[in-house]
Amino acid sequence: MKQISRRSVLKTGAVAAATWSIGTLAQGAPMARPLRHAVIGMGGQGRTHVKTFASTENCTIAAVCDVDPERLGTVAEALKGKVDATVTQDFFEIIHNPEIDSVSIATPDHWHAPIALHALKAGKHVYVEKPCAHNMAEAYALEEAAASTGLCVQHGTQHRSGDGPIAAVKFMQEGGLGKVRMAKAINHQYRGEIGRAEETTPPPGVDYDRWLGPAPERPFTKNRWHYQWHWHWDYGCGDIGNDGIHQIDMMRWGMGVGYPKRVVATGGQLFYNDDHETPDTQTVVYEYDDCHLMYEMRLWTRYKMEGHDNGVVYYGDKGKLEVGRTGAEVTLIGEEKRKLGGPNDLPSNVRNFVECVRAGTPDKLNAPIHEGVISTALCHLGNIGTRVSRPLTLSADGRAIENDDEAQAMMSRTYRKGYELPHVG
Ligand SMILES: NC(=O)c1ccc[n+]([C@@H]2O[C@H](COP(=O)([O-])OP(=O)(O)OC[C@H]3O[C@@H](n4cnc5c(N)ncnc54)[C@H](O)[C@@H]3O)[C@@H](O)[C@H]2O)c1
Repeated sequence: MKQISRRSVLKTGAVAAATWSIGTLAQGAPMARPLRHAVIGMGGQGRTHVKTFASTENCTIAAVCDVDPERLGTVAEALKGKVDATVTQDFFEIIHNPEIDSVSIATPDHWHAPIALHALKAGKHVYVEKPCAHNMAEAYALEEAAASTGLCVQHGTQHRSGDGPIAAVKFMQEGGLGKVRMAKAINHQYRGEIGRAEETTPPPGVDYDRWLGPAPERPFTKNRWHYQWHWHWDYGCGDIGNDGIHQIDMMRWGMGVGYPKRVVATGGQLFYNDDHETPDTQTVVYEYDDCHLMYEMRLWTRYKMEGHDNGVVYYGDKGKLEVGRTGAEVTLIGEEKRKLGGPNDLPSNVRNFVECVRAGTPDKLNAPIHEGVISTALCHLGNIGTRVSRPLTLSADGRAIENDDEAQAMMSRTYRKGYELPHVG
């Protein structure tokens, strides 16, 4: 394994002398130079962010960060000679660097809102991966911080910049599908068994305490580590918050609804017998005044449902509309299926973020945080309902759970000492 000591990481990462004075732009002030962007978390998605931001017009990679020196070293090597970027295991080095304008957060979920809040407090714009928060209270804190600072906060639900999803929403808004009273979010992605992992020491050089962050102190196992953290409540949100959030956000956007009035959820680990804590089988119904939204998740089959392993189907009285991996298609009664447009679009979502930051126009974001927060809350409500095993009734504004102390307690978490959420504003 390639080792990088913190000292050498910091040394390699020394930022070149600034040729301009940066600081954070006031909202509304256009930026005349390229955006200096940092990416935190160098897993599969963080590396995709590095590539995508680096190839976006008017944007340069100013810093990369990971607590794992092996992952960091691979990215640093790839950037060498092309970009003069800070390379660090400590995200605070990015937060406190006034020459950095914006950050991507592609860490495990339990770090999304804490890092986003630190970044906003330091005046940086944020592209936060989905789900934007590990619990609902954090999500609301992030929404308030975005509003109070006026900075751009884009959510990693990139389908909102895809031409197919945009065309699908427009088609339904214009009445093309007639009355639409039901939609289904399908998440039947095959995940496979993760087995049972022994407790070991973390890989050399890894800042495991920083990886744990706000979560309780627990011994290292490879099943709580890279990617597998998704299946542990301390760090992840299960697959509803992993892949399901894309379908739930798309479903909710297409239907034009926000918070539901009631949530009925059920599920558990019915198939695998391994270290998973989160469900492998889950069904959630979101009740609104005039429609029902459903989420159906099965992580152990290799065949599709209504032609999709991941997708959304909207049911109207004139026909049905599908948004899946290949894009958006509509089938009206008595007509052939026809394509409305292509699928998810990360480069467009990133381009939209860079343009909004440079133009000082947070109101033009395609996936703004206030929408990300609602979809994130829907995922958490699905999990809370599943875990308490009873229907949840929501307050009039949909942001709180009524008359259920156990469920309400799950809207937040206890933060490990030294890793409490920062206050912004
Ligand atoms: N929008 C999408 O389509 C999409 C696709 C894949 C993943 N994601 C999201 O991106 C995030 C990352 O996913 P992944 O698959 O790359 O996970 P991963 O576990 O492979 O990578 C996360 C990385 O973050 C690092 N990290 C953890 N805590 C850190 C900290 N405090 N400071 C710096 N680095 C830290 C880890 O060491 C790890 O290398 C997840 O939230 C996931 O939901 C989004």
